[in-house]
Amino acid sequence: MTAHRFMPSGPLTGRIRVPGDKSISHRALMFGALAVGRSRISGLLEGEDVLATAAALRAMGATIERDGEDWVVDGVGVGTLLQPEQALDMGNSGTSTRLLMGLVASHGVTAAFTGDGSLSKRPMGRVIDPLSLMGASFTPSPGGTLPLMMEGMQPAVPIEYRLPVASAQVKSALLLAGLNTPGTTTVIEPVPTRDHTERMLRGFGVDVQVKEADGEKRISVTGPVDMTPCDIIVPGDPSSAAFFAVAASIVPGSDLIIENVGLNPTRNGIFQVLEKMGADIDYLDERDVGGEPVADLRVRHAKLKGVEVDPAIAPSMIDEFPVLFVAAALAEGTTVTSGLEELRVKESDRLSSMAGALQQVGVDLRERDDGLLIKGNGGKPLIGGGLVTTHLDHRIAMSMAVAGLASEKGVEIDSTEPIATSFPNFMDLLSEAAA
Ligand code: S3P
Repeated sequence: MTAHRFMPSGPLTGRIRVPGDKSISHRALMFGALAVGRSRISGLLEGEDVLATAAALRAMGATIERDGEDWVVDGVGVGTLLQPEQALDMGNSGTSTRLLMGLVASHGVTAAFTGDGSLSKRPMGRVIDPLSLMGASFTPSPGGTLPLMMEGMQPAVPIEYRLPVASAQVKSALLLAGLNTPGTTTVIEPVPTRDHTERMLRGFGVDVQVKEADGEKRISVTGPVDMTPCDIIVPGDPSSAAFFAVAASIVPGSDLIIENVGLNPTRNGIFQVLEKMGADIDYLDERDVGGEPVADLRVRHAKLKGVEVDPAIAPSMIDEFPVLFVAAALAEGTTVTSGLEELRVKESDRLSSMAGALQQVGVDLRERDDGLLIKGNGGKPLIGGGLVTTHLDHRIAMSMAVAGLASEKGVEIDSTEPIATSFPNFMDLLSEAAA
């Protein structure tokens, strides 16, 4: 493990470009692998999580290669995934695991899924339960976790399933299983979650039906489908941009342009909340990239104030709470968050990880079952110091790096390695922006 101290920083300035969106990158590889023929992906995130997806798809027959700046995928077609010869190592990636379990569920394939210490603690029952109803069988570790063995069912049985948790991963797992299931698979979504699966499947020629009634979405696919190859441009990841948006907001004198940020309405909650807190964000050159709204963000330092965050916005910023907590720590007044039980089952228990980390650098807060209450210090630097435990969680590492920029003593984190799962050039961009 490589510990690192993130020192107090001068203003963040200039222009940076964050890497491709993680959610979209996973899906581009998976859908490319299911199409017959060649798909080309530009802007793919080359983080460890996405590379774990690529390796698993190769093990099931797809050809995936880097071609200059792009990636090309030669798919095997829906229904013809091969039996992997070895366990599929998912590393730290919950998205790879849950979506690929959906894919395997309706194929005549037996697969073992393994992962690192963080992933092996995360609940898989949420996909095992509905995929079992479709006919797949599972032997998980005690508690419904990895390592697990699963056997797909071909043909699987279509189901109609109401999501018991707001989870794009569970929704996507079922829709992926539905692609090779004769008949109509329907997912009912009471609370909207990121819709990249629905959007991108259409690009690959799949007729995804979405009906809204009584405040719920009914999302259906009728299988088995034929998928046509598609060229994908992956926009920059708003979840990665969020670290720099908060950094520029809290470090005095900052004026930073973050280029090419995806602003899908199911993902942009963090920017809305930051603006409510008083952040100074301009949306420049708003455009459409590969079917997703994109803009360059100009973020200038601003005096932030504490807010009460409406739990209804949580799914659209579910990965951004750790860095929001950092913004809250430097705001004037109290920030209250609630309805965040899901944060306890991410790469780490993000409520307890962030409560512990922020307290260690001098932040006054209270941890509740479903959120944090943070008393902001009005914008003066945090005390800093201490050695923060990141619990194999990339977003804790990057959030506390941002906290270090606005601190007196700097903030030391126990390990920078997890950052490579989603944002391999984070440290380089930070040095560039803070130079
Ligand atoms: C993701 C969905 C979210 C998010 C994760 C990526 C996806 O997880 O936290 O980083 O790509 O579908 P949940 O579905 O568990 O909320």
